[in-house]
Amino acid sequence: MEKKLPGIIARIGDTKQEIKILSIGGGAGEIDLQILSKVQAQYPEVLINNEVVEPSAEQIAKYKELVAKTSNLENIKFTWHKETSSEYQNRVMEKKELQKWDFIHMIQMLYYVKDIPATLKFFHSLLGANAKILIILVSGTSGWNKLWEKYGSRLPHDDLCLYVTSSHLTQMLCNLGLKYECYDLLSTMDISDCFVDGNENGDLLMDFLTETCNFSTTAPPDLKAEILKDLQEPEFSVKKEGKVLFNNTLSFIVVEA
Ligand SMILES: C[S@@+](CC[C@H](N)C(=O)[O-])C[C@H]1O[C@@H](n2cnc3c(N)ncnc32)[C@H](O)[C@@H]1O
Repeated sequence: MEKKLPGIIARIGDTKQEIKILSIGGGAGEIDLQILSKVQAQYPEVLINNEVVEPSAEQIAKYKELVAKTSNLENIKFTWHKETSSEYQNRVMEKKELQKWDFIHMIQMLYYVKDIPATLKFFHSLLGANAKILIILVSGTSGWNKLWEKYGSRLPHDDLCLYVTSSHLTQMLCNLGLKYECYDLLSTMDISDCFVDGNENGDLLMDFLTETCNFSTTAPPDLKAEILKDLQEPEFSVKKEGKVLFNNTLSFIVVEA
């Protein structure tokens, strides 16, 4: 993020008096504030209008708290919309309030969007001159992809969260005829505790990896044993200094106006 972002936002504010940023699924704002500080560094004199589309009231409250205790945000105007991306889309289309944006980001949130191609097409239509969309989600080369491909059908799964990776995303962008660049950012997650029987952190990590509540106590023993064995295999993890590090590679996809 630190290295990649300056290049990605390099021209978004050129010749502009105000930079308009739309954060989709901004959560509690930690990543958003990192992005904003990079935009401030690139364009120190320019006002920033940062609007956030986020359905969770709890996340919005945390975001507001973070903004309140962070300094150097004077040139940024924040607005929060408590809604999903499709509710935002419907609202602005109904009211014909289709404004253009300089930077739209969707970070670790497309898993929760039902119609991703329609969402991409809509938000792409809102890009102004030199504007970009940044999407971050797990890479098709990550352990997540292997886990979902191999075990997705055997894990309890609601339709709230999709097994979507950068490979699916880039295919969708190609189908839509949109220009994009995709970079992988190597990242790992220490899952060593998963292999310590009865370890509380390990149990929580297993819940996170399988998106299942209380996986360790409720999963069929054969499924649990197979997953625990596979998680130590090289397609899923690397072993380093006695630790098991899950392949959590993320992709940055930058879509051009
Ligand atoms: C994993 S968090 C990522 C938060 C933040 N972007 C980050 O990277 O730290 C996903 C966020 O997307 C939000 N979300 C879920 N469904 C959404 C939707 N349909 N439209 C917009 N945001 C959504 C969630 O409430 C949550 O805050």
